[in-house]
Amino acid sequence: DKGGWSSFMAKEISEEPDAVANTIRGRVEGGQVVIPELAGLDELFLDINRIVIIACGTAAYAGTVGTYAIERWAGIPVTVELSHEFRYRDPVIDARTLVISVSQSGETMDTLMAVRFASESGAKTLSICNTQGATIARESDAVVYTHAGPEVAVASTKAFTAQITALYLFGLHLARVRGTQTPQFLASQVEELQAVPDKIASILGASEKIAQLAHWMADSRAVLFLGRHVGYPIALEGALKLKELAYIHAEGFAGGELKHGPIALIEPGQPVFVVVPSPRGSAILHPKVISTIEEIRARGARVIAIAEQGDAAVLPSADEVIPIPLAGPLFEPLLAVIPLHIFAMELATAKGLDVDQPRNLAKSVTVE
Ligand code: M6R
Repeated sequence: DKGGWSSFMAKEISEEPDAVANTIRGRVEGGQVVIPELAGLDELFLDINRIVIIACGTAAYAGTVGTYAIERWAGIPVTVELSHEFRYRDPVIDARTLVISVSQSGETMDTLMAVRFASESGAKTLSICNTQGATIARESDAVVYTHAGPEVAVASTKAFTAQITALYLFGLHLARVRGTQTPQFLASQVEELQAVPDKIASILGASEKIAQLAHWMADSRAVLFLGRHVGYPIALEGALKLKELAYIHAEGFAGGELKHGPIALIEPGQPVFVVVPSPRGSAILHPKVISTIEEIRARGARVIAIAEQGDAAVLPSADEVIPIPLAGPLFEPLLAVIPLHIFAMELATAKGLDVDQPRNLAKSVTVE
């Protein structure tokens, strides 16, 4: 039931605040993250010496966002890999490796095969999954469910924000168990996470401008997305949504990579979305991203910046600014992705396409 919305995707984007809030619920005690499903695993968490996150598509981008936070908080090396690439090389993993799979459906065959391979190799497995009792969840040593609720639209939206939330909760749980941060610092991060749903809701309340932009851009042949640090996987997610829904050639790049090739693509009129980190939270990266914007604009790019509201440096440099509320650097991706979800949906709608059921795609990819 679309509950009065024009599509399941519109409904599911409107549920992104709840997806985050419901995933946090029941997992904070006295200002600290305590995930009940992980009770009894402290010894394992003290013993592991690295984490490998495996997933496909959007879930892999959520995993990439997770790597930054878990490394920052828990001080343990974390890498992310596409399940199908991980499975068919010879990854070096052992009993001290924790392999975390991320999957909305819990039935993605590429990820299931990678989880089985990880178990056979002696690694411990943890599943982040949105579907109770799914195969991947059942076959993993532990599971942390996302509580996004059923996701019907083929393109993933609320499951993505819930996956980042679950990975963050895991990172904060792990940091507490391993004692890598002070309780005060961890409590401040928990508070930031708890503030995210209201901030997402405020972005949803101001989505008219994004819809307008999408209508203007409906004839674009290609759209580029740039980001750095946690903004990089958000750029990848923005590009994937646009490909899937609007059948427009879209690419996401790490901002720092631009000069190493992709800048050759910039020609007059080329639309480029840039995820701008907060000037307060990212004193080093913010000016670098602003100078990237200036560089591509000098070559004629049309820049749409997603930036912290009140960011004075971005206003004169970009053609359009989509403001997001203030948040700590690691929490910006949960906000910056919302305009990109809305943009892809609106652009597909403007082209008269079926946003819930894009061509050639299945909701759950159950073959390798
Ligand atoms: O069910 P999963 O989370 O394992 O699915 C993974 C991908 O197939 C999925 O995220 C896909 O990329 C979506 N269509 C993206 O919108």
